[in-house]
Amino acid sequence: MNRRMKIVIGLSLVLLLAFGFVVIRTFVDKPQEMVKIKPFPAGEYDPAVWGKNYPLQYASYLKNRQMSPSPTGYGGSNNVQKSIQQPEILTNFKGNPFSKDYTEDRGHPYAVEDLLETKRIGPASPGACITCKTAHVETFFKEMGWGYAKVPLTELTAKTKHPVVCGNCHDPATMDLRVINPAFIEAMSRRGVDVKKAPREQMRSFVCGQCHAEYYFEPGSNRVVFPWDKGLTPEAMYEYYAGKPFGFVQDWQHPDSKTPMLKAQHPEFETWSEGVHGKAGVSCADCHMPFMREDGRKYTSHWVTSPLKHIKNSCRACHTQSEEWLLTQVKTTQDRTWQLMHIAGQTIARAHDATGRAGQNPAADPASLAKARELIRKAQWYWDIVAAENGMGAHNPGGNMNTLGQAIDLAHQAIEAAAQAGGVKQ
Ligand code: HEC
Ligand code: HEC
Ligand code: HEC
Ligand code: HEC
Repeated sequence: MNRRMKIVIGLSLVLLLAFGFVVIRTFVDKPQEMVKIKPFPAGEYDPAVWGKNYPLQYASYLKNRQMSPSPTGYGGSNNVQKSIQQPEILTNFKGNPFSKDYTEDRGHPYAVEDLLETKRIGPASPGACITCKTAHVETFFKEMGWGYAKVPLTELTAKTKHPVVCGNCHDPATMDLRVINPAFIEAMSRRGVDVKKAPREQMRSFVCGQCHAEYYFEPGSNRVVFPWDKGLTPEAMYEYYAGKPFGFVQDWQHPDSKTPMLKAQHPEFETWSEGVHGKAGVSCADCHMPFMREDGRKYTSHWVTSPLKHIKNSCRACHTQSEEWLLTQVKTTQDRTWQLMHIAGQTIARAHDATGRAGQNPAADPASLAKARELIRKAQWYWDIVAAENGMGAHNPGGNMNTLGQAIDLAHQAIEAAAQAGGVKQ
C-alpha cells in the first residue's frame, strides 16, 4: 500500500465516521422512542404501571411532588394562602368560597388531595369539580356523559384513585398525545377545531389547555363550558358572558355592592395564546416540559414546574441570551404585573365598599348604582383574569399590563358612579 492509498483509506474512514455520527444524531438521538412494549388497557390510570415501561419519564414525573419556591419569588409550589399578601382578595371575593380558601397551586400529583382538602368544597359540591383533577374523568364521561357533572362530588372522589397522570395526556394504546376533557373538545369544536386531528405541535399545548383554562358551569346541568365562542381575549370572554350563555348570569352576588360577579379561573391557555410565545407557536411543553439528557439518552422532562428552574433546557433551546438575562426579563415583568395587579385589586375593593354604602342610602339614584355595579363587574373581571392566571404576567407581559390598566380605570369610574348615586363625595 503506497502513501496515497493510505491517505485515501484514512480519509474515507474519517468521512464514514462523520457520516455515522450524523446518522446517529438524526435518527437515534430522538427522545426515547415510544417503545411499544405492550399497550396499556383503557382505564389504566396508575402512573407506576406506566412508569415500568418509561422509567425516565416516570422518574421526572415523581419530581412533581417537590415543593419549592420559584426562582423569582412569585408562584412556586408551596400552597400558601394568597390573601396573606393580597388582603383585597377577602373583600373582592366576599360571599364566594374563594374568600375562605385560595392557595397557590402546586404539582400535578396533589390535584385530588388538594381538592379534598380545600374549604371551597362542601357536601353540596357537584361532580363537575373533578373534571380537571384526574384521568378518571374519562371513565365517568364514558359511563354517564355529562350526567357525571351533577352527581355529588363525594361519590366520584370515592372512585378516584389517581390525580393528573399519564392517561390525562397520553393514549394508553399508542402513547400519542390526547385530550380527554370533554369541555375542551366541545369548546374547540365550536371554534371549528377537531382536536382529534390536531398536529403534534398543537397537541403539545392542547394537553395543558384542557385544564389550564377559564370555565363556568351551565346552570341546571353543571356541564363545564369554556367561554371561547367570541375569542380568547379578556374582552371577548367578557362579551360572551354578557350574552347570558345558557342562562348563566353570575358566579355569585357580592353581598356589599350587590354586584352580579364573575370568578375567573386559571386562564393560562388564553393568556399564552394571546402572548408573543403563543403567537410564535412556542408550546406549553417547550418551556414546561423541555428535553433533558441522562446517560446520553434524550427524553421529555415530566417535571411540570417553573421553567426558570432549568432555563438552560427550557429557554436556551431557542434563546441565545444568558440565563441571568432571561431570568431578569421574567422577574421584571412579574414585579411590574404584581404592582399594578395589587393597585387594581385594592381600588376594586374600595369600589365595592363605596357602592355598598351608596346602596344603603334610600335616596340613592338607581341608574347610577346600576352603572357602578356594571363597572365593578367589568373591573374585577379584568383584574381577576390576570390575578387568577398563574404566570404573574410571564405568558403575555404587554397584554396583561393593558388589561390591568383598564381594570384600574374602570374601578375609579365605579367609585365615581357610586358617589353620584349617593350624592356624596368619596
Ligand atoms: C400533562 C401532560 C402529560 C402527562 C401527565 C404525561 N405526559 Fe408524557 N409527554 C407529554 C408531552 C407533551 C410529551 C412530548 C410529546 C411530543 O412532543 O410528541 C410527552 C412525551 C412522552 C413520551 C415520549 C418520549 C419522550 O420522552 O419524549 C413518553 C414515553 C411519555 N411521555 C411517557 C409518560 C408517562 C410514563 C407518564 C406518566 C408517568 C406521562 N408521560 C405523563 C405530556 C404528558
Ligand atoms: C387534568 C388536568 C391538568 C392537565 C392535563 C394539566 N394540568 Fe397543570 N395543573 C392542574 C391542576 C389541578 C394543578 C394544581 C394542582 C394543585 O395545586 O393541587 C396544576 C398545576 C400545574 C402547575 C403548577 C406546578 C407547581 O409546582 O406549582 C404547572 C406549572 C402546570 N400545572 C402546568 C401544566 C402544563 C404545562 C401542562 C401540559 C403539559 C399541564 N399543566 C397539564 C391540572 C392539569
Ligand atoms: C415561553 C415559555 C413559556 C410557555 C410557552 C408557557 N409558559 Fe407557563 N410559565 C412560564 C414562566 C416563565 C412562568 C413563571 C414561572 C415562575 O414564576 O417561576 C410560567 C408559569 C406558569 C404556571 C405557574 C407555575 C407556578 O409556579 O405556580 C403555570 C400553571 C403555567 N405556566 C402553565 C402554562 C401553560 C398551561 C402553558 C401553555 C398554555 C404555558 N404555561 C406556556 C413560561 C412559559
Ligand atoms: C421554542 C422556542 C422558544 C422557547 C423555548 C422560548 N422562547 Fe422566548 N421567544 C421565542 C420567540 C420566537 C420570540 C419572539 C421574538 C423573537 O423572535 O425573538 C420570543 C420572545 C421572548 C421574549 C421577548 C418578548 C416578551 O414576551 O417580552 C422574552 C423575554 C422571552 N422570549 C423569554 C423566554 C423565556 C424566559 C423562556 C423560557 C422560560 C423562553 N423565552 C423560551 C422563542 C422561544
